[in-house]
Amino acid sequence: MTNSAAPKPAVPTACVIGWPVKHSRSPIIHRYWLAELGLAGDYVRHPVEPEQASAFFAGFASGPFIGCNVTVPHKEVAFGSVDHADAVATALGAVNTIWLEDGKLFGSNTDAEGFVANLDQRAPGFDANPGPAIVLGAGGAARAVIWALKARGFAPIHVVNRTRDRAEAMADRFGSVVRPAGWEDLPRLLPEATLLVNTTSLGMEGQPPLVIDLGAAKDTLLVTDIVYVPLETPLLRVARDRGLRTVDGLGMLLHQAVPGFERWFGKRPAVTSELRRLILADMGVVEEGNAA
Ligand code: ATR
Repeated sequence: MTNSAAPKPAVPTACVIGWPVKHSRSPIIHRYWLAELGLAGDYVRHPVEPEQASAFFAGFASGPFIGCNVTVPHKEVAFGSVDHADAVATALGAVNTIWLEDGKLFGSNTDAEGFVANLDQRAPGFDANPGPAIVLGAGGAARAVIWALKARGFAPIHVVNRTRDRAEAMADRFGSVVRPAGWEDLPRLLPEATLLVNTTSLGMEGQPPLVIDLGAAKDTLLVTDIVYVPLETPLLRVARDRGLRTVDGLGMLLHQAVPGFERWFGKRPAVTSELRRLILADMGVVEEGNAA
């Protein structure tokens, strides 16, 4: 469906587009905030096939939505379709949040902000003494993580990837702070690292687990995963058993949603423990004694 083909909704409505998009939990997040803040509005899932993505954006300004989130596989097409992309979207070559100004499409990418906001909330001071970081993976998610870590002063950023070319592409994009590496380099890199991030799909439900020997890591290593299903991935479990600080990936999903909501509905929402519990309940997870 293109945007302009849909009827106008009764209240200001934003959406998430993707293919597939039926598993997106974004409507739960935005509807929670709308209700909490007492705002008239709605947020829906809007499936858009890859062949339809360009037409969707071309018809956006005359369509029913006030804005949208963009998820896989449309973030690059979205970047190429907006009239104005902000600095972070331009650096990443991908847009995940779109809004309208004077009939023009504006795009940002809030994944990087969501990633660090999650760490700021759940591991405050994580960047007080930034040192070498290790990023596992070199896909779209890694791009946002690398941008964010560079902005917070982590250096060097070792990008460990199965396909070497993709790790090298990260160095081309972000400069010499990025050091491309292979999985075989991990034992050498781990003892110096202050932060380890998994951005690969390994450890995700239905995917092979990611199991790394963290025995040689510093006791102060912070380990985080952008995978949040399961909430505690095999990597985080190994890290916790080793006594390391860990941060799960759910908060990134929650925090990346904040800037879009504020643009569309005019109020900045908060990522609370209640919202976290709501999403966990949808995942069938009951968490004990956790703060947001
Ligand atoms: P996203 O946009 O979500 O980051 P992606 O672009 O498909 O997704 O990237 C997935 C990442 O997981 C890549 O770094 C990929 O490694 P390759 O670039 O070598 O494909 C990594 N990945 C996926 N499955 C993997 C596996 N079985 N072993 C090692 N790395 C894997």
